[in-house]
Amino acid sequence: MSSFRPYSECPRLSERESQARAAEFCRLMQTRRTVRSFSSRSVSRDVVDDCLRTAISAPSGANRQPWSFVVVESSARRRELRLAAEAEEREFYAHRAPVTWLNALAEFGTDACKPFLETAPVVIAIFSQPWQESEAGDRIPNYYVAESVGIATGFLIAAMHNAGLSVLTHTPSPMKFLSSLLQRPENERPYLLLIAGYPDEQCMVPDLTRKDFDVAVQRL
Ligand SMILES: Cc1cc2nc3c(=O)[nH]c(=O)nc-3n(C[C@H](O)[C@H](O)[C@H](O)COP(=O)(O)O)c2cc1C
Repeated sequence: MSSFRPYSECPRLSERESQARAAEFCRLMQTRRTVRSFSSRSVSRDVVDDCLRTAISAPSGANRQPWSFVVVESSARRRELRLAAEAEEREFYAHRAPVTWLNALAEFGTDACKPFLETAPVVIAIFSQPWQESEAGDRIPNYYVAESVGIATGFLIAAMHNAGLSVLTHTPSPMKFLSSLLQRPENERPYLLLIAGYPDEQCMVPDLTRKDFDVAVQRL
């Protein structure tokens, strides 16, 4: 059993401060949009690392932290990644995707070309770990893996937005090629790719609507 300690770093805010901070964070997050065309302007490694520190502070089932974040920096690897992702995506758009899926994607204008995998300053491959090795060397299962990695990814997206970066959540379908290309251990499964940086000059975003608050949120 782990030892317990006082939660001394817990922020203690007045109701006014709390309201102000909730409203400010809400306004900030409402300016987040997925970006699909990035400029080549670089991002400082310190910024990326602090965002990653935020991500790995996320809660996880039984505190197993069933994730790993691979920052793909080498331009040769980025090229391989793009070629492999585009090969899968060409198949996806031409043959694998059902019509309903293609119809759902039509409003985003996406296709099999993924230049941002080479041009955006930051590419992070996120892996989930359905099991891990215990100190004794046994395979032990992790719990609520998808939920935990999803929450950590959400932290990362919010941290990047807060740092002024734009992010694309990219899920080439299927993503199995990431495991061999990035030489991941056998307990890891590709979860998704996050591309981050700054929008290019001509960047446009689809004019989407959000669910109404009263539809998305109910009180019983
Ligand atoms: C799990 C997940 C997977 C996604 N995969 C892709 C993708 O492969 N390619 C893409 O262009 N956008 C992808 N997106 C972005 C969504 O299309 C986008 O979040 C959605 O249209 C809402 O737009 P917004 O992020 O600007 O609010 C993905 C988003 C999520 C959450």
